[in-house]
Amino acid sequence: MVREIRITPSILNADLTNVEYEIARIAAQSDLIHLDVMDNIFVPNFTFDFERASGIIKACPIAVDAHLMVADVDLIAPAYAEVGCSSVTIHAEACKEIASTLRAIRKAGARAGLGLKPATSIEEYADFIDEVDIFLIMTVEPGFGGQTFMHEMMGKVKRTRAIIGDRPIWLQVDGGVSLETIAEASEAGADVFVAGSAVFNAEDPAAMVDSLRNLASSVAQ
Ligand code: DX5
Ligand code: ZN
Repeated sequence: MVREIRITPSILNADLTNVEYEIARIAAQSDLIHLDVMDNIFVPNFTFDFERASGIIKACPIAVDAHLMVADVDLIAPAYAEVGCSSVTIHAEACKEIASTLRAIRKAGARAGLGLKPATSIEEYADFIDEVDIFLIMTVEPGFGGQTFMHEMMGKVKRTRAIIGDRPIWLQVDGGVSLETIAEASEAGADVFVAGSAVFNAEDPAAMVDSLRNLASSVAQ
């Protein structure tokens, strides 16, 4: 079975003073919009508080994929599902009660994602597989857009693909995904691709989303 490829542009490096316009530029070509929520505690950067994020989520014309890079994520995560995100990803390193938080996200109607920083092993969290709809393998240290793709994460992506087996779980990569790196990640088994600077620094962001999808699809098995 050929995997379905999904592209989810991150608006982190778009013009955040004009979010609705930036989303409108790429919405028709994109599967989801990736919303990076950072609290300046779990990562050394701040993006949106819940109120601002809620406004963006409610106004977004396509599904929103929230990536919560916040400490003590257990309480706030279900609220992102309740406000309308189609998927909510928490970080294993930031969560106290992983299983119950993933269940609460699902109960509120969203896909539940478990994200892992580069140094965190997938094997340590494989037992949560029945509570998970998305595994997110970070291909940069979370915190900033525009960083270099960590090729050394491809072994972890392959091992995660093997753990997922036939389950309908998405395998997302985030960080440094571009025309130079997306085929390698797709070959390793990823099927959901976050791309921030590659899309929004492109002359034609919508065409870039199409190009990324075509490249990832061409090597997907
Ligand atoms: C990094 C964020 C990413 C980032 C991707 O912490 O989670 O989503 O915005 O940006 P690029 O594609 O520029 O690496
Ligand atoms: Zn992200």
